[in-house]
Amino acid sequence: MNQTQFEKAVADLPFARVEFFESVGSTNDVVAAWAREGSSGLCLAAADEQTQGRGRSGRRWVTPRGRALAFSVLLETGLAFDAALLGRASGLGALAVCEALERLGLSPQIKWPNDVLTGGRKLCGVLPEAHWSGERLQALILGIGINVAAKALPSPDALAFPATSIEEATGTQVAPEGLLRSVLERLLAWRPRMGTPDFLEAWESRLAYKGQRVQLEVGGRTLEAELIGLATDGGLKLLVNGTERAFQAGEVQLRPLVDRPGK
Ligand code: BTN
Repeated sequence: MNQTQFEKAVADLPFARVEFFESVGSTNDVVAAWAREGSSGLCLAAADEQTQGRGRSGRRWVTPRGRALAFSVLLETGLAFDAALLGRASGLGALAVCEALERLGLSPQIKWPNDVLTGGRKLCGVLPEAHWSGERLQALILGIGINVAAKALPSPDALAFPATSIEEATGTQVAPEGLLRSVLERLLAWRPRMGTPDFLEAWESRLAYKGQRVQLEVGGRTLEAELIGLATDGGLKLLVNGTERAFQAGEVQLRPLVDRPGK
């Protein structure tokens, strides 16, 4: 994506600050710096290339030039944000991406907490980051990375989970500015409704492996469990050895038990 395409994508959207970078370390770091400098309201940074892109659990996230969407939204600063909604932030990003992909005719699913899949392969990752200043939430940031072109993907050896791109999933080349706009429209529509049952329902209805047995890694142990659904705080409810348990993002790694496509 270039500057002109970016401007087209964000035209008339109610962001307090927007900026596009041809190349940057990580767009999450850009908006975190804006929050430290005092920017408030919804802000958006996007980049054509990231040189220090990161994913969950300290993993690298590759955004090669001209092949992917990488952007971060500064959702909240200061005290206004309801901390109980923090666990729903990755759902906001994943749901917005799903709805944008549905407009392209895809049937995406959300691998809790932060991956968007099509055909069992990862197409998008969401990285929520909260910055605190003591008890005060300084910034809540939502970073989103989407593989647009087939050539966006790193080599299979570098992947923790099998990946795909929009080009592979749709068989066509999709205009990045249209996709970005679509995701932002859905994100802005859901943002004020993150606390509602409708939001949780829309997220849960797209949850991958619902009602299926999955493999979990918890505290260095591997378990099998049945995936029940979402807890109201955005955690994941599972049936482990006959007992219902809820986990928060970061406590547990989820894997499908069967039908995992090869890398
Ligand atoms: C994951 O799947 O682990 C999350 C990946 C999140 C990648 C996005 S790209 C935009 C933003 N900037 C980053 O450095 N990471 C997020």
